[in-house]
Amino acid sequence: MIPFAELKPQYLAMKDEIDAAIAEVFDAGWFILGKQCAAFEEEFAAYHGRGHTVGCASGTDAIHLALRALGVGPGHEVITAVNTCVPTVCGIAATGARPAFADVCHDTLTLDPASLERAITPRTRAVVPVHLYGHPCDMEPILDVARTHDLKVVEDCAQAHGALYKGRKCGTFGDAAAFSFYPSKNLGAYGDGGAVFTRDDAAAARLRMLRNYGEESRYRSVIEGFNSRLDEMQAAILRVKLRHLDDGNAARRARALAYGQGLQRARVTLPAETEWATSNYHLYVLRSQARDAMRDHLQRAGVGTQIHYPTPLHLQPAYTHLGYGAGDFPVAERACREILSLPMYPELPMEHLEEIVRAVLDFSA
Ligand SMILES: Cc1ncc(COP(=O)(O)O)c(C=O)c1O
Repeated sequence: MIPFAELKPQYLAMKDEIDAAIAEVFDAGWFILGKQCAAFEEEFAAYHGRGHTVGCASGTDAIHLALRALGVGPGHEVITAVNTCVPTVCGIAATGARPAFADVCHDTLTLDPASLERAITPRTRAVVPVHLYGHPCDMEPILDVARTHDLKVVEDCAQAHGALYKGRKCGTFGDAAAFSFYPSKNLGAYGDGGAVFTRDDAAAARLRMLRNYGEESRYRSVIEGFNSRLDEMQAAILRVKLRHLDDGNAARRARALAYGQGLQRARVTLPAETEWATSNYHLYVLRSQARDAMRDHLQRAGVGTQIHYPTPLHLQPAYTHLGYGAGDFPVAERACREILSLPMYPELPMEHLEEIVRAVLDFSA
């Protein structure tokens, strides 16, 4: 069986560095908001040029706290792409604002600026573009719409560590960007973790309070806050992994290239990489009108696949109260029936990749 993903090879490749980092945390005997978190925040901010990073407990919290720090709350609406995964909307709803959806572009499956503009109402306060699968959204027209309608922009970078839009890192375009360090992400912890990157000094200061009971200083809470921190162990592990992020992304890109070459004659649509994008290939997502049959075939051939994501958000039971219905977002709805993610991680053995390609070609024959 070729599994969809394997995390252990990466640990083994970095074992000495990671074990040493963990030992350092135990030696220091300090586990929450210490030197490791502060150092990771500095290093992750430097990775994006200038700006602030504020660590928190998850990518979902990063979306929630970023929106809150920018003044989003009850009575507001926040628009996101309808094909994102559920936590984007969990983060929006946690602010008390109402989530609203827009459709996506057919080629990249990222937020369609025209659909975004149509979704705006007088209550719309922010937009959360999602760099889905590691392919950047077309940020310039999205930022134009946001500027015209005075909307805050929080980039959902949960899948986009190190991805580039017109040569510049995803996460540096909006008012803030939310990152997830869920273990399978391109930059993954060994547990939950997240961070907000922002160049807004005031928002960064609010975020530091929001994540720690609203405290401005010890035992002095000046705003209502939460408990959402990136712990020292995860921060120490992430510091090691950040040093390998660009290499890992390059290894993913090499595998995407090999898939692309191998699958040229398959009756599938390969993932698009537009001329303005450098994807980090968090996921490698094909499209096929015979998706379910192809998935069954690959399963029988011993290839693990997944679907990211099978149900657009407006058709999820939890969000029917928002009042949307089938047919409202035709591009995303069609994509959800056709998408299939093949195994993709930096250490995916090339012999496995060749077997996967053969199994897809076999199905297409
Ligand atoms: C696009 C997207 N947004 C948000 C999240 C939420 O991140 P987390 O699982 O760290 O809360 C994830 C990952 O699960 C994601 O893929």
